[in-house]
Amino acid sequence: MAFGKGKIRTRKATLPDAPAIHALIEGYANAGILLARTMGDICENVRDFTVVEQKGKVIGCGALHLYGQHLAEVRSIAVARAAQGQGAGSKLVSALLQEARQHQVAQVCLFTRSPEYFGRLGFVEVPHAVLPDKIFKDCRNCPMFTRCDETAMIYAGAEARAEACEGATEVDVVRPERQPAMATLVQIGRAES
Ligand SMILES: CC(C)(COP(=O)(O)OP(=O)(O)OC[C@H]1O[C@@H](n2cnc3c(N)ncnc32)[C@H](O)[C@@H]1OP(=O)(O)O)[C@@H](O)C(=O)NCCC(=O)NCCS
Repeated sequence: MAFGKGKIRTRKATLPDAPAIHALIEGYANAGILLARTMGDICENVRDFTVVEQKGKVIGCGALHLYGQHLAEVRSIAVARAAQGQGAGSKLVSALLQEARQHQVAQVCLFTRSPEYFGRLGFVEVPHAVLPDKIFKDCRNCPMFTRCDETAMIYAGAEARAEACEGATEVDVVRPERQPAMATLVQIGRAES
């Protein structure tokens, strides 16, 4: 579908946006670029989503999943192919980061196969294991767990939080006494890889 040029703006999604969000994500999920989301999953979590509109049409979407005040995850970022290159993706990410700030979340992460894109937006690569919430929520049930091809990133912004993780390895970061189940998961991942 072609989208005309015009002002683009972000807004929080509402339930009537669910079909458009589903279609956007499905297009990339079928190509193995994004994790698939069912309609049910999108409806249930529609309050996580922000959409980008152009001339009243939804041209992109993205979600902020809250784990707690310590961490939120930017996920399901998708801009329609015909609408790419106009700043919609960066507007979305910036709106989601603003939302994280409103919730006073300490750290924002994402998992992506496009690390260069998010690097330009202020995210830096970290070891997967510094994000155990994500591993417990999604990775441990993922068939790609032991051979994950996604890059884990956190938003460094002005404070460059990533410095704290610089040089850290999974073993350094996941201390068995503090995260026993997590440590086991990482070891299983290594043993199977
Ligand atoms: C990645 C994506 C969201 C970017 O959306 P967009 O609206 O085109 O992005 P913007 O307009 O903000 O930025 C465009 C710039 O990013 C670059 N870019 C786009 N996709 C990129 C990628 N995968 N890797 C590196 N750079 C990328 C473009 O070349 C362009 O560069 P320029 O400004 O130097 O010309 C969009 O391409 C998309 O939906 N991709 C498929 C889904 C996906 O990969 N989602 C992210 C994974 S979670």
